Amino acid sequence: MSEKRKQVLVFRELPADQLARLQDAHDVTVANPRLPEQKAAFEAALPRAQGLIGASYPIDEAVLQRAGRLEAVSSMSVGVDNYSLAALRSRGIVLCHTPGVLTETTADTLFALIMATSRRIVELANLVCEGHWTDHIGEDLFGWDVHGKTLGVLGFGRIGQALARRAALGFGMPVLYHSRRPVDVPDLAGHVHYTARDELLERADIVAIVLPLTDETRGLMGSREFALMKPGAIFVNGARGAIVQEPALLDALDVGTLRAAGLDVFATEPLPLDSPLRTHPRVTCLPHIGSATHETRQAMAEMATSNLLLALAGEQPLAVYPLG
Ligand code: DGY
Repeated sequence: MSEKRKQVLVFRELPADQLARLQDAHDVTVANPRLPEQKAAFEAALPRAQGLIGASYPIDEAVLQRAGRLEAVSSMSVGVDNYSLAALRSRGIVLCHTPGVLTETTADTLFALIMATSRRIVELANLVCEGHWTDHIGEDLFGWDVHGKTLGVLGFGRIGQALARRAALGFGMPVLYHSRRPVDVPDLAGHVHYTARDELLERADIVAIVLPLTDETRGLMGSREFALMKPGAIFVNGARGAIVQEPALLDALDVGTLRAAGLDVFATEPLPLDSPLRTHPRVTCLPHIGSATHETRQAMAEMATSNLLLALAGEQPLAVYPLG
């Protein structure tokens, strides 16, 4: 056994080809702590783990305290809100993630939610499925056009830009965006306009959230923000559930004038069975599938595996999250 072999803990299943790449170079334990039967194996492997790779599990201060030999964490996600950034920084642990490879797929998901909510796709498909298509549909079941509507994008990173490209260049939609500062995107010049956040909420027919979850964005969409939105506007969230105050969203739908919401993410996931969002007639809920295609999840796994192999070899990973 080579001295360079290290201890790797895989905390969410990897495709077999990527697991094999890790096993070629290191001693690997696979234990998903979300599965009750694997939690003990995860806990047992943590103290000797030098590399962690996975997703969708909080690697917080308490976990990191039990991982005294850790050198690198590789997340199969672009979002890093599951990780205690301060604890990683103070222990000098490298955090890698997978930006870029999921951009187009996640933008597709967001656009699917825009189409589904505007054209009432799920509701009308269910009507057929349940045997209620007995006559021509009437006005009460008509949807609303997407083309030509104004899209407001909150957050203008890679995914926000890819969404804006679909809207502006594919559907002739005027696009407003808000981010910390205006962004120069040459192929979107003249098609998208930087706008103050409140003004965007007031002017957009459809508002889409594409922001990372940070202390600044947690709970960002509350009663005040929903009240600013146009009567009949549609709200779509493909970022993180905790950016939205869910009770305020429900009020905006039931008491206010919000037409519909399309949500891929929730404050608690999986969405609890008693959440009123789950069965709300004007809410389309997806089970956090932003990047969930065969091609993209494979690409994310490959990138995350490369990141960890490089980090453990002391080389520059493909994408290191800046911890400051
Ligand atoms: C991400 O990459 O952050 C996605 O939300 C994970 O599905």
